Amino acid sequence: MTERTTVPDLGVGVGLRVPHYRGVLERRPPLDFFEIISENFMVPGGKPRHHLERVLETYRVVQHGVSLDIGGPQGPSPEYLRRLKALARETGTPWVSDHFCWCGSSGVHLHDLLPLPYTEEAIRRVSERARVVQDTLELPFALENTSSYLTYRSSSMPEWEFLTEVTERADIGLLLDVNNIYVSSYNHGLDPIQFLEGIPAHRVVQIHVAGHTHVGEYIIDTHRGPILPPVWDLYRLAIERIGSVSTLIEWDDAIPELDVLLAEADQARSERDRALAARARGETSVDAEAVRAALCALRGQPAVRDPGWLQGGPRESAGKESDHEAA
Ligand SMILES: [Fe+2]
Repeated sequence: MTERTTVPDLGVGVGLRVPHYRGVLERRPPLDFFEIISENFMVPGGKPRHHLERVLETYRVVQHGVSLDIGGPQGPSPEYLRRLKALARETGTPWVSDHFCWCGSSGVHLHDLLPLPYTEEAIRRVSERARVVQDTLELPFALENTSSYLTYRSSSMPEWEFLTEVTERADIGLLLDVNNIYVSSYNHGLDPIQFLEGIPAHRVVQIHVAGHTHVGEYIIDTHRGPILPPVWDLYRLAIERIGSVSTLIEWDDAIPELDVLLAEADQARSERDRALAARARGETSVDAEAVRAALCALRGQPAVRDPGWLQGGPRESAGKESDHEAA
């Protein structure tokens, strides 16, 4: 997969979640696609597969996974990949995605998306495995930037450089979660604009947007509630940079009525159209300095761009040795 154009732009979709099965199947609302969590359907037969088959009668479905474990000590399991590929054959998913993360060790699966250290060794490990996954699945494969709540002293580059190196070396796609960029930028003192400018735009096959929860020292990627204004700003900046690309609303906690989710999808369409119109005029619809300043203010920092804001870099290793032991 060397060109993004080999992956179709499906439009705007939402995650397929159990509380909406009935409404979706009875009303068949005008959504462009659904994203499913692959692991929820990787068993033959049963109710989940029955519902999925009925959804597939009307909609395109894209597969997104949460337990590939691309970065852990053992790496992806061949049996998991076999079952993932079997499901992909049935759904006709145009690509398969998972996360830049590790999930456990020594046979223990932690059911969490743990961040990776941004090192040359991790780039080698993850890119080699990602290439194997893509070849095995015989489909375009993409990895998603996660939100994170810790960093590693061993990291030697910012996250966007890591994402770029892996996707280029493995020749895979990037699933860009702009809410995760916002969450990690707040949690680690990153500049979200610099982050967006640093990602490889031609590698992006899909965008995620979601709600988050501010709990004081941290912002948690809860996928709860509507998408907040600064995340829409980042979304439009991403579209202005990347162009038209499949966009998915993630809403997984306190799941609302279907109509609320459909309204959020409509909002995504209008944000996308606004960004594409600005892009066509060679302009921008976003005051990037205001986005940066607002995040700095929320963090209680001066509203200036600090070149030391590199994850695992000078900001976090200077003067914070004791409370940032690598985990
Ligand atoms: Fe996401």
